[in-house]
Amino acid sequence: MAHPHLIFLGAPGSGKGTQAKKIVSELGYNHISTGDLLRGEVAKGTELGKRVEKIMKEGALVDDQLVLELLKANCDLDNSSYIFDGFPRNGDQAKMLDDEVLGSRKSLAISFEMDTEKIVERIINRRTAKGSGEIYNLITRPPKVEGKCDVSGEDLIHREDDKEDVVRNRLQIFENTIEPMLKYYDEKGILVKVNADKDPAELFEDLKGLIAR
Ligand code: AP5
Ligand code: MG
Repeated sequence: MAHPHLIFLGAPGSGKGTQAKKIVSELGYNHISTGDLLRGEVAKGTELGKRVEKIMKEGALVDDQLVLELLKANCDLDNSSYIFDGFPRNGDQAKMLDDEVLGSRKSLAISFEMDTEKIVERIINRRTAKGSGEIYNLITRPPKVEGKCDVSGEDLIHREDDKEDVVRNRLQIFENTIEPMLKYYDEKGILVKVNADKDPAELFEDLKGLIAR
């Protein structure tokens, strides 16, 4: 039986990208992160990238329709199971995802639950590798060689929106928008909650159990 499509809900820094990477490599999912897609547009200097750069730097949300179009252009749901990471971001996007992308396909919404105060520490210590997609943490998962990716050797970057004041803004936006999404998926009967404040390997086991259910 095909795996359900997964909709990851969770605060910035709750570990969505970290777990998505594990699920892709072990369970053969495709990962679509609207944040990564948008950062890719900024890095390439496209028209779209220029439009969203300042918004992202401030930690605010980009226009719903624009992100939806980018998402649609980057997934082919009939040929594999997807992880939606970073979309939806509000109640309107949750509805758009159903109406314009998922339709009646089987899906599961997973809420990564974690105290937002602990998150700031995680995020300011995050470093990422653009090419390999590896995600490090200077405290809990440091690279073997300072500033370099263990897998690809490329330079690690510190995301522009990972500065403490911007992180706090992102967390505030999350807190203002999460409730309608939880309600939406709860009413559909596809919402599950996981404790995201635990070791990444343990959390991965919890997720595998839910996917196999
Ligand atoms: P986006 O890229 O989606 O960022 P986000 O939701 O804020 O999430 P993050 O990527 O910061 O966190 P994560 O949960 O993936 O955590 P990670 O695994 O890296 O969005 C960025 C921006 O794009 C938005 O602000 C907005 O402007 C725009 N955007 C994107 N989608 C949009 C949409 N749909 N609509 C409108 N605008 C949109 O982990 C974080 C750190 O913690 C790492 O250092 C990691 O090593 C560490 N870590 C992970 N798990 C654990 C663990 N279990 N224990 C200890 N440390 C851990
Ligand atoms: Mg992420």
